Amino acid sequence: MNRTNIIHDGVSIKIYETDEPDKVIISFTDDITAYYKIKKAVIRDKGLYCNNISCMIFRHLVKGGIPVHFIRQISDREQLCRKVDVIPMEVIVRNVIAGSMAQRLGIEEGMVPNDTIFDICYKSDELGDPIINDYHAIALGLATRAELDEIYSITKRVNDILFPLFKGIGITLVDFKIEFGRLPDGSLVLADDITPDSARFWDIETGMKLDKDRFRHDAGKVGLAYKTVYERLASVTDNSDCDE
Ligand code: C5P
Repeated sequence: MNRTNIIHDGVSIKIYETDEPDKVIISFTDDITAYYKIKKAVIRDKGLYCNNISCMIFRHLVKGGIPVHFIRQISDREQLCRKVDVIPMEVIVRNVIAGSMAQRLGIEEGMVPNDTIFDICYKSDELGDPIINDYHAIALGLATRAELDEIYSITKRVNDILFPLFKGIGITLVDFKIEFGRLPDGSLVLADDITPDSARFWDIETGMKLDKDRFRHDAGKVGLAYKTVYERLASVTDNSDCDE
């Protein structure tokens, strides 16, 4: 499978077309940014950890019956995926209150809500990915009611699969962001990636943050945190790709 034109030149991922029009190659860099690219750095081997972490998570989700764009890992920094029409909407799952929700509502970080919280945001760097609701999503044509129902249903299943996976490796899955895309036949699949850049992972025993918050808050040991998640996941997941 050969890379051809670049179709997304992001900071932490680049997406390339391939010689097969329905497939893309996603390549992970060592670059990291926060606060809408105001803060930037390079973390050695971050691309390798993030690609491997996302591949392990997606393989596990496939086994759990979740429809995904991921096909197989190509190398330490690259994965082959189905080309999708990405819905410009981010879905955030919160098992524990942290980050923007703690700030916005004046809640102490670490509070466990009575039920899992789902937020949806309009994907726009310029606007700071503002929170929207179902009415906005439908009225603005981002998704239909039926699609939103399916998105929430898949999202809940993803959380039901990942929360225990991470618990089993001593990590609380505090929150995470996912995105969805449409295949040419209109069916929905989980797209994007799931990594410490887009999720919060807290060590259950020590409370140590094992995610991008270390970079956001200048806590140091960012690479070590990502490596820890990678090594723990690698110790419990089956890392063979078998189908296309
Ligand atoms: O910023 P906030 O605290 O709402 O983020 C919740 C979760 O979603 C975090 O894990 C964060 O890394 C992720 N997120 C993301 N991309 C965004 C917004 C949030 O990956 N644009």
